Amino acid sequence: MKEVTEISSYDATNLVFYVNGKRVEEKDVDPKMTLAAYLRDVLKLTGTKIGCNEGGCGACTVMISHIEDGQIRHFSANSCLMPICGVFGKAVTTVERIGSVAKNRLHPSPRLSNCGFCTPGFVMAMFALLRNTQTPRSLILLGFAGKSVPLPILEAFYSFAVDETGTLKVSEENGCGMGENCCKVKKQNGTTNGTCGSNEVTPGYTGGERKRKIQLSDLSGCKPYDPTQELIFPPELKLHGYESMSFAYNHHHTKWYQPVSYNDLLCLKRELPHARLMSGNSELAIELKFRFIDLPAVINPRQVKELHARHLDGHGVYMGTGMSLTDMDNYSVQLMKELPEEQTGVLKHVHEMLHWFAGIHVRNVASVAGNIATASPISDLNPIWMASNAEVILDSDARGEKKVHIDEKFFLGYRKTVIQPDEIIKAVVVPLTHGNEHFAAYKQAQRREDDIAIVTGAFLVKLDPKGLIVENIRISYGGMAPTTILALKTMEKLKGQKWSQEFLNQALALLSEELKLPAGVPGGMSQYRLSLALSFFFKFFLEVSKKLNLTEIEHVDADVKIGQDVPETLYATQLYQEVNANQPAHDPLGRPIKHVSGDKHTTGEAVYVDDINVADCQHIAFVLSPIAHGTLNSIDYTTALEVDGVIGYLDASDVTTGAKMGHHNDTPVFVKDKITFHGQPIAAIVATDHEIARKAASLVKLDYSVEKPIVTIKQALAAESFIFKHLVIHSSLNDNEQVVKTDWSKYERVVEGEIDMGGQEHFYLETQQCVVIPHEDDELEIIISNQCVNDVQIEVAKCLGMAQHKIQTKVKRIGGGFGGKESTGSILAVPASLAAKKYGKPMKIKFERFDDMAITGTRHPFTLQYKLAVDENGKFIDLDYTAMSNCGHTLDLSMGNEPWSTRDNVYKFANADITGKMCKTNLASNTAFRGFGGPQGMFGTEIMVKHVAEKFGWNHDEIREKNFYEEGDCTPFGMHLNQCNVKRTWDECRVNSDYDRRLEEVNTFNQNNKFRKRGIYLTPTRFGIGFGLKQLNQAGALVLVYTDGSVLVSHGGMEMGQGLHTKILQIAARCLEIPIEKVHIHDTSTDKVPNASATAASVGSDMNGLAVQDACRQIMERLAPFKKLNPDGRWEDWVKSAYVERVSLAASGFGIIHHEPVDFFNGKGAELFGYSVYGTACCEVEIDCLTGDHHLLRTDIVMDVGESLNPAIDIGQIEGAFIQGYGLFTMEEIKIRPDGIRLTRGPGNYKIPSADDAPKHFNVSLLGNSSNKMGIFSSKAIGEPPLFLGSCAFFAIREAVRAYRIQNGNEDYFVFHSPATPERIRMACEDFVTSHVPSLPEEGTYTPWTASV
Ligand SMILES: Cc1cc2nc3c(=O)[nH]c(=O)nc-3n(C[C@H](O)[C@H](O)[C@H](O)COP(=O)(O)OP(=O)(O)OC[C@H]3O[C@@H](n4cnc5c(N)ncnc54)[C@H](O)[C@@H]3O)c2cc1C
Ligand code: FES
Repeated sequence: MKEVTEISSYDATNLVFYVNGKRVEEKDVDPKMTLAAYLRDVLKLTGTKIGCNEGGCGACTVMISHIEDGQIRHFSANSCLMPICGVFGKAVTTVERIGSVAKNRLHPSPRLSNCGFCTPGFVMAMFALLRNTQTPRSLILLGFAGKSVPLPILEAFYSFAVDETGTLKVSEENGCGMGENCCKVKKQNGTTNGTCGSNEVTPGYTGGERKRKIQLSDLSGCKPYDPTQELIFPPELKLHGYESMSFAYNHHHTKWYQPVSYNDLLCLKRELPHARLMSGNSELAIELKFRFIDLPAVINPRQVKELHARHLDGHGVYMGTGMSLTDMDNYSVQLMKELPEEQTGVLKHVHEMLHWFAGIHVRNVASVAGNIATASPISDLNPIWMASNAEVILDSDARGEKKVHIDEKFFLGYRKTVIQPDEIIKAVVVPLTHGNEHFAAYKQAQRREDDIAIVTGAFLVKLDPKGLIVENIRISYGGMAPTTILALKTMEKLKGQKWSQEFLNQALALLSEELKLPAGVPGGMSQYRLSLALSFFFKFFLEVSKKLNLTEIEHVDADVKIGQDVPETLYATQLYQEVNANQPAHDPLGRPIKHVSGDKHTTGEAVYVDDINVADCQHIAFVLSPIAHGTLNSIDYTTALEVDGVIGYLDASDVTTGAKMGHHNDTPVFVKDKITFHGQPIAAIVATDHEIARKAASLVKLDYSVEKPIVTIKQALAAESFIFKHLVIHSSLNDNEQVVKTDWSKYERVVEGEIDMGGQEHFYLETQQCVVIPHEDDELEIIISNQCVNDVQIEVAKCLGMAQHKIQTKVKRIGGGFGGKESTGSILAVPASLAAKKYGKPMKIKFERFDDMAITGTRHPFTLQYKLAVDENGKFIDLDYTAMSNCGHTLDLSMGNEPWSTRDNVYKFANADITGKMCKTNLASNTAFRGFGGPQGMFGTEIMVKHVAEKFGWNHDEIREKNFYEEGDCTPFGMHLNQCNVKRTWDECRVNSDYDRRLEEVNTFNQNNKFRKRGIYLTPTRFGIGFGLKQLNQAGALVLVYTDGSVLVSHGGMEMGQGLHTKILQIAARCLEIPIEKVHIHDTSTDKVPNASATAASVGSDMNGLAVQDACRQIMERLAPFKKLNPDGRWEDWVKSAYVERVSLAASGFGIIHHEPVDFFNGKGAELFGYSVYGTACCEVEIDCLTGDHHLLRTDIVMDVGESLNPAIDIGQIEGAFIQGYGLFTMEEIKIRPDGIRLTRGPGNYKIPSADDAPKHFNVSLLGNSSNKMGIFSSKAIGEPPLFLGSCAFFAIREAVRAYRIQNGNEDYFVFHSPATPERIRMACEDFVTSHVPSLPEEGTYTPWTASV
C-alpha cells in the first residue's frame, strides 16, 4: 500500500501552471511563497502590484482559470494571499496579458486610471468580471467591494454596465446627476436657457463656454468587449485532467500535499495531525507573512470532490467545506429560488451576510471550513451557525464521521475549537426554517464593505402562532466575548414568554446584564458593542412583529433598514469651462486631456521603485522597537546572522557620531540608547532577499527597559511636553503696534468649547521604498518613492558626510504620497546608503504596509479650543483659538502643520488671537498630510459656527453668510483677499444642489422616520496657496530641444498620480507652440534640477509651471530670428537652423511665487500667500440611529480653480480630495494603546473609503468665469483645497444625529468629535437602548483599550 506522506506516490510532483498562456514548471519553489511574489520576483511580471500583502487593497488582483465539473471557470483572486502551489494545474492571467501600451495593444477593460499604482488590480477585477459576465449589472460594485476605487475608475467601469433592457446605464442621454436641477431638464421645462451655472465673471477671465458632462472622459474610442479575442484555456491543462491529479511537492522546510482522494486526505491528517490544512489561505497567509509561523507540512484539500458536495437532506442544506464562500453564496441563492420562502430564513441571511464578508477576491477562495476553524470571535458566519443550530461534520481516519452542533460547547476559548488535530471539517449542515420560525442576522463594522465586524448578531425565534408564546429562541453574538457566544441566560428566561412589548423590555434588560463588557475590554468600544447587541435584537424584534402584523407593538411600522434608496449605479456630472473657440487645435492648455501615464497605469507598464531590477541587489529589513518609550540595553544578532542568505547588519554603531536626520537634526537613524516610539528603527538586517531579511530581523533579540510613555495631547499638556515654542497670531497687530487685549466681560453672547479631531494614515498605495546603487568615485544613485528628491540628497549627504554633488536622487513616479513622502525619505535612504557603502552593493528597502504604518507618522491629531463672542446679529467679534497638535517624537514638519493660516476658514473676525501648541509625545513623528493642518483648523471653526447657531437658535447658513469674507478683507494673519469667490461658490453650490428644496424634504423624511434620519449640509472652504517658508517657494526647470524637434522637459516636481507631468507638458506645449506629443518628461532628478522644493503645498504646477514657462520663453526668444527668416517653416526647421547657427537649444528656467513671511513667534501677520482657492460642498447623508451606520447619498461641489489647466485632472483631484477628506472625517481611526503600541497597521484594521462609500450622486462643477491673476495661465492650485469639503459629510451626519436627539428631547448643543465613526454616531443617538448601557467608570480608574491621542 502506498504511503500517503510519500511525495513520489503522487500523480504530480512538479508544480505546473500557466501564466498568460505560457507554461511554467517549477521544481524548486518555497510553497510558502505567494503567487504575487512569484509573479513579480521570479517571472518579473511587475504589473501585479503589492500594496498590503494581506488581501485588503486589491492591487495584486489576478484572474485564475481552472476546470470545475468539466467547465472552465474564471475567478479573481488576491495573488498576495494565493500560495504558489495553490495554482497547480490552473491558468493565471495577469495584467500583462490584457494590454500593452508598448505593443500598442489595449484591452477594453482598462479604460481609465487615477494615481496608477492600484489600477492594474482594478483592471484585473473588471476583467475577471467580464470573463464571467460580459454585460455586468449591479455586479460592478461587487467586483470592487471594499476597495478604495477612484471615482474616474468607477465611472469608466460603469460604462460596461447595462440595465435590464441592455441599455448602457451611464450615458449623456440618461440625464445628469443634478436630477431636476439639470440645466437640460430645466431647459425642457422652460425654466432656464440650458446653460450651466452662474454668469458672474471674475475680472481677467478669458475662457470659453461652460460644459456639463456625464462622463468627463471620452470613452467612445474604447473598443467594445469581445470575449472571442481572449486567450483560450491551456489545452494541456484540459487534456491531462490536472484538476483530478494528486500533487505533492517537497521543498527544504515545507512539504505540500494536495490529494484528490477523500481517503488520502483523512490518512494524511492521521499521519500528519499537526500539518495545517490550507483551504483559501486567507487566514494562514497573514500568519505566515507577519507572524513568521513555521509550516513543515501543508495539506490543501480543495481538489477533493467530496468536500464540494452539496445537497438538501432531511436535516437541512449540506454544504461541503471545500466550497468557496462565493460558491456557498451561489448555492444559497439557488436554493432561495427553489424552496418556499419560509424555509430559507437562514440561507437568506447567509447570502446577505456574505455580501459584507470580505471582498469578492477573498470570497472566491476562502472557505467556510477556514472560517469555522479559525474560530475568530468576530467571524461573520459563526453567529449564524450558532443561532440556527447548524452542525458541522467532522471526520477522521481513526474515529470516522461525527456531527457536532456549533453551539456553546464548540468554541473552547479564543481561537480554539473542539476540532481534533487529526480531524477535518467535511461539511456544514444548515437547517431550513419552518413556518413559525423567524431568523435574522446583522453585522456592523467600521466600514460597511470588506471589514471585520465590530459586532455580529444572529437570532432565531419559534413562536406559537396562536398565543405568540416563544417556543424556542436562540440569540448569538460575535464580538461580545473571546468566542462567538449564545446568550444562554437570556434565552432560558425568554423561553415560554409571550412576544410583546413587555417581552422586548425584558429581553433588553436581560441582554444588557448578560452581555455587559468591562470598560477596558480587549477590542475596546465596550458601550458601543453592548448598544449594538441590544439594537440588533430590537431590530429583530421589530422585523418579526411587523411580519406578524402586531400593531400594538410600539414603532412596529418603523423602518429600520437604511440605504434602500441608494441607486445601483453612479450618477456623476462634471461641469467645466471649455477653452475659447479660437484657441489653436494643437494647444492643449485648458483641455481635459487624460493623464499622460494613464494607459501605462492600466496595463501595469508604469514603473515604480520595486519594479526596477538592479543586478546583485541586496535587501534590507528593519528591526523595530516593540515599545514606545524606554532604554535599549543590548542587541543580540546571533540567530539572525545564522539564517541562510543573511549578509550582515547595521545599527547605530554604523552611523557617524552625532549624525541625525531631519531639518532640525533631531531624528536618529537607529536607536542608540533611548527608544522614543513604537516602531522606531533600531537596526537593520542585510540579506540576499527581502523575505530572508524580514525573517532574520524578526529573530534579532533586544534587551530593553520600559518607561512610561506620553501618548496623548492631554498627557503632553499635563507634563508640559512641547516640541517647540508656541506659535501665535494676533489680528490686532495688523493695525496696531501692540496686541489688543480682549475684555470678555463686555460681551453678552459668548460660546466656549473644545473639540477633538483624529489623525489620518496617508495610505498611499505604494509603500515607501528605495534602491541605492553605489558607483565609482563614491557616487550614490538613489531611486526613491518620495516627494522631495532634494531632501533625500541633503539628508544622505549630511548623515554620510558626503558632498551633495556625489548623490543623484531620482523619481520616475510615485504611487501616491499625500504628504507622507515629503520628509520621510531619509528614514529609508540613509540606512540603505549606509549599507550600500558598507557592503559595496546596491541595496533595496521596501516597507511592508504593516511596518510603513508603524515607522512613519500620520496627519496630526488635534484638540481645538475656542472662545468666540458674537453680536446680536450673529457677527463674529472676538475670537480666542488654541490648537494643540500631537506631533510625535520629533519636530519634523509640525511647525508648518500648525493651522494658523486656516483657522478663519471663510469668515471675518473683528479680532482674533490664535495660538498653536505642538505637543511632544512618544509616537512616530506626525508629518505633512494633504491640507497641512488646514482641515483641522477649519474643522474647529466650523464646529464653532455650529455651536453659535445651536446655542442662540440661529440658522447656521445665515450665520455663515453674515460672516463671509468679502473682497479686500484681511485675514487674522495679515493676508488681503483679492478675487474672493467664497460667496460665488456658496451660491452656485446652493443652487446646483437644490439645497433649500432638499432641506425641506430631509425635514419631512425625519418627521416620518423614527430610526433613520437624514442630514443635509453646506460647507464652504478657503485655502491659501504657498509654502509657509520663503525659500521653498521657488522652482527650477531644464528644457532641452533636440535637433529632430523633440523636447525633453525636466522640472523639480514629482509625478505622484496627481497629473503634474501632464499639466507641465501642456504648459510647455503652449509656450513652445508645438503639439504635446513633441514634449516628454523622463523623470525628476537632482542632477537636472538642483535644490527643488518638495512637491507639496499644492504648488507643483504653479511653481514648476512658471520655471518651465521661463525656460520655454528663452528657447522661443532664441528661435524668434529663425521664425522670422522662415515664417512658413515648421518648428523642426527653426530648431535645425538654430542648431546650425550654434544657438543653444537648452535653457534652464526659474520661477517663484508670492510670499511674505509671517512672524508667528510674535504674532504679526503679512501678505503670506498670493491667492486663495475657494469651494463649497453640499452633502446629504442617511444614518441608522440604532447602529451608527451611514450612507452618503449625494455630494455636490463647486470649486474655484481659476482657469483650469486641465479640467479632467482638476476634477479628478477634487473628487479624490473630497473622498480622502470624507474618510478623514467619518471613518478613518488610528488606534493606539495607552502604552503607545500602534494597533492600526494595515487595511485589515484601518479603513479608508471603499467603492461602496462614494456618493452615488456626485456632481462637481468648476466655478464658471473665474480667473486668477496670481497663477500660471490664470489657473489655481487644486491638490489640497478640496479636502476639507469632506467634512461636509461629517456635518450632515451631525445634523442627522441632531434630528434623532431632538426627537428624543435632547435639544442642546452636543459635542461630537471627529471622525464620525459608527461608534460615535450610535453613542450620540441617545435613546432607550443606550439607557440600558452602564456608564464608564471614572477616568483613571481603568485602562482603556485605546488612548484618545
Ligand atoms: C482581507 C480579508 C478580509 C476578511 N474579512 C472577513 C470578514 O468580513 N468576515 C469574517 O468572518 N472573516 C473575514 N476574514 C477572515 C477569513 O477570510 C475567513 O475566516 C475565511 O473564511 C478563512 O477561510 P480560508 O479557507 O481562507 O482559511 P485558511 O487560511 O485556508 O485556513 C484557516 C484555518 O482553518 C483551517 N482549515 C482550513 N480548512 C479546514 C478544514 N477543511 N478542516 C479543518 N480546518 C481547516 C486551517 O488549517 C487554518 O488553521 C477576512 C480575511 C481577509 C484576509
Ligand atoms: S497586496 Fe494583495 S490585496 Fe493588497
